[in-house]
Amino acid sequence: MICLFVATSSSNGLAALLAREFDDKIVRIEKKIFPDGELYVKIPPFKDDYAVVVSSLYKPQNEHLMELLLVLEALNGLNIKKIIVVIPYLAYARQDKRFLEGEPISVKVVLSSIEMNGVSAVITVDVHKEDSLKEWLNVPYDNIIPVKEVAEYFRKIKNVKVLAPDKGALHRAKLIAESLGTEYDYLEKFRDRITGEVRILPKNLRFEGNNILIVDDIISTGGTMALAARSALENNALKVYAYGTHALLVKGALDRLYEAGIEEVVSTNTVLSPISKISVHLSVKESLKKFL
Ligand code: R5P
Repeated sequence: MICLFVATSSSNGLAALLAREFDDKIVRIEKKIFPDGELYVKIPPFKDDYAVVVSSLYKPQNEHLMELLLVLEALNGLNIKKIIVVIPYLAYARQDKRFLEGEPISVKVVLSSIEMNGVSAVITVDVHKEDSLKEWLNVPYDNIIPVKEVAEYFRKIKNVKVLAPDKGALHRAKLIAESLGTEYDYLEKFRDRITGEVRILPKNLRFEGNNILIVDDIISTGGTMALAARSALENNALKVYAYGTHALLVKGALDRLYEAGIEEVVSTNTVLSPISKISVHLSVKESLKKFL
């Protein structure tokens, strides 16, 4: 098969790593900004049947999204049999419903605008809620969680238990814990009926004598992780480690995390950051094989 890996400006090296795995070619798009601020893209000439476009939609999200849409439209004008889009970080995924009257379902806008540009399949990495893909995509999709890579990175920690900061993140904790061959749990809010005090406690596990690995999809302000870390330490955990697939790291997040006593914070290369130490390309490769 002749496949072309198209690196947008937010591919983060993943297009090249994937091309290397498949022993295929990569093109980097030509990009410029017109004097009025509008974006121009062009794809260098090629003769391949399949195109895999890699575009992570982190900050500046709107610019990266527009670039992706223009690249897809450009590919539509070429003689391509299949266009597959890899979206390592899906922007707007947390606005997945109308929380308040008058709000948009932002993730629907993002996914449907991508799909309507002639895409055959979509691969995402650890989206906030996989249900969004089911609901708003009509083309085949796959959402990967880089379980093997994360477990491999943290295998060095002895006596580790895996903790989700809330019930919604439990599926991720379960997968990583199973790969590490250990137990997992999530934190639950309890309110003291007499004093009204709110405490965040592990649902089932005891942490005494154990190291704790907290796992979540996104580290944004770091507030969620910091709270979970404090709870683990208050419950006698030895050391606390944190993994978040997407390191958005806004508003001094790293200081907040280390201040909470976390030993090490690690993320993937879906978003570039000082803690993006794990590459997701091997999991994406396995997923791509299903569509090529
Ligand atoms: C929320 O539901 C997400 O899964 C993350 O827990 C959240 O986005 C993390 O945000 P922050 O780092 O600002 O607490």
